[in-house]
Amino acid sequence: MPSKKTNNNIEIIPMALSDIEAVYRIEQTSYTHPWSKNLFLTNFGKRYFNHVLIKDNHLIGYFVCSSVEKSVSLLNISISPLFQGKQHGKSLLSFLCALSIEKGKKEIWLEVRRSNTTAIALYKSFNFVEVEVRKNYYPTKDGKEDGIMMCCYLT
Ligand SMILES: CC(C)(COP(=O)(O)OP(=O)(O)OC[C@H]1O[C@@H](n2cnc3c(N)ncnc32)[C@H](O)[C@@H]1OP(=O)(O)O)[C@@H](O)C(=O)NCCC(=O)NCCS
Repeated sequence: MPSKKTNNNIEIIPMALSDIEAVYRIEQTSYTHPWSKNLFLTNFGKRYFNHVLIKDNHLIGYFVCSSVEKSVSLLNISISPLFQGKQHGKSLLSFLCALSIEKGKKEIWLEVRRSNTTAIALYKSFNFVEVEVRKNYYPTKDGKEDGIMMCCYLT
């Protein structure tokens, strides 16, 4: 397994069903269109490798990932707003890349709103490249916006 502990009293560990309440609280504060609790429950199980980031015994971030054959789909990644901009997103993504390589995966796919420049900058810093634009894919408060499909080819 990739190293789970860092020197900042942080651990990244598999998400448990009992984490979903805390995950859902972060989800509601992180997105304009958050996942429902039920969506987290259905994105759980054998082909998922969901993890949470714990800092000082508090759950402050998570990712949800599914995998089929050599391909991983990053379905959700969030850091609690109070802790954003402190390199925790980078830690989660770095962990996911290492874990995927360890599991023999060859690529990680994701979709992101065009307006989410923070997430796009993070993904680009991990060598994700834009593969396709899905026009008007996401609902917004007053219309639709494009989704950008990105892929990171693992080496
Ligand atoms: C996207 C998200 C996971 C990033 O996590 P984070 O902990 O805030 O990000 P980090 O501190 O690890 O920053 C990593 C990189 O992201 C980019 N970034 C972070 N904050 C940024 C900002 N305010 N503006 C632009 N880029 C930013 C930078 O490239 C940064 O790298 P650098 O510090 O070397 O410049 C987090 O902001 C989040 O949870 N957002 C809400 C949910 C979301 O949009 N998830 C993605 C859905 S596709």
